[in-house]
Amino acid sequence: MTDKMTLSLRRAGRLGYVLAFGTALVALDGCGGGGDTGPVAPTETTCQQDPTQAKCIVTPPANTTLRGLAAAKARSFGVAVDAAFFGANPAAYDAVVAREFNLIVAGNVMKWSSIHRDARYAYRWTNPDSMVRFAQANTMNVRGHTLVWHQQNPTWLTSTTWNPETLKVVLKEHIDSVVGHYKGKVVAWDVVNEAINDGNGTLRTTGSPWASTIGASYIDLAFREARAVDPAALLFYNDYNLEFTGAKQDSAFVMISGMKARGVPIDGIGFQGHFQINTDGSGVPSKDALIATFNRFAALGLKIHITELDIRIRTPGATSTELTAQSQGYANVVSACLAVPACEAIVVWGLNDGESWVPGTFPGYGQALLFDDTFARKATYTAVSTALSGG
Ligand code: XIL
Repeated sequence: MTDKMTLSLRRAGRLGYVLAFGTALVALDGCGGGGDTGPVAPTETTCQQDPTQAKCIVTPPANTTLRGLAAAKARSFGVAVDAAFFGANPAAYDAVVAREFNLIVAGNVMKWSSIHRDARYAYRWTNPDSMVRFAQANTMNVRGHTLVWHQQNPTWLTSTTWNPETLKVVLKEHIDSVVGHYKGKVVAWDVVNEAINDGNGTLRTTGSPWASTIGASYIDLAFREARAVDPAALLFYNDYNLEFTGAKQDSAFVMISGMKARGVPIDGIGFQGHFQINTDGSGVPSKDALIATFNRFAALGLKIHITELDIRIRTPGATSTELTAQSQGYANVVSACLAVPACEAIVVWGLNDGESWVPGTFPGYGQALLFDDTFARKATYTAVSTALSGG
């Protein structure tokens, strides 16, 4: 291309920006740095001055992004996206997502309460479909979250008294529809989410139509159905507080061992990784403790994903001890993952602090993520990128 040629930028739906040149569409993969991207108006900010501006959805050198650093270690680094992505959707948000991550998860829009909100035979594909198209346009993989959970279920489901056989049919229908819709597009599903009680590690029945009506067999049923619909998708059990040794972790180990023995198709375990820094700086297991936990489950033949990583601190008023521990916690998780070959992916639960679920769920805590609300990299980002660059 020469600078005499007239180029125009246009937005192709949610597929990002492309250069329209004649009838050919050419992906904009340069940022004014070396490539000829056409004439720049004198008043325009260049991509070097402001890489987050809308037209600069680009791939910078791999060694300067989380996705590039992770890929160099054969890992994926992902992010959960939510209202900011699906709503007003500032282009700067999209640009950072595409620049930094090679894996994407829906924070809410693939859950029953969203995708299957209204009625037994009605699905809402628009938002999750747009996320999947964005992922494809930006060479990102998609994790599916989640097929069976005790929370965020629609009223039409929870207000009906089901008998076990009918509820099994409803569950299979949902899995057939959702996994079928995304067959070949979702690399891994969180098939069952949070089936084990905190503390004593018993089967969670409170609030769960699945466990209370079908019984524990709903878990096997869900995995078998998902495998039947998309044999290529990796199937995960996902839960929180499994990072710590104790009754809950032991129960997950026993449960998954039993599934394996019964021939139930399960490929991996998702450690959600929602951590809280205490005033003494404790709260995240050490690198060695995490490695031991990951290896315990890898020995069952499972892949390990860190699926919902965030590390919250007190707000306001976190001390330097707490801030340092937060960054160290991120480093612990990333370096432990790199030390365990079965650990293939890390996902942070939100792009920036302003969209995080933490302040609403844990009053007095926040600032749990890698970017602030101006999309500036935080110390936590540096800790992650440094750990990704290491062993
Ligand atoms: C959270 C979302 O981030 C919130 O927006 C929503 O209100 C509640 O759910 N474990 C999970 C996630 O598996 O789905 C949850 O996400 C956080 C805890």
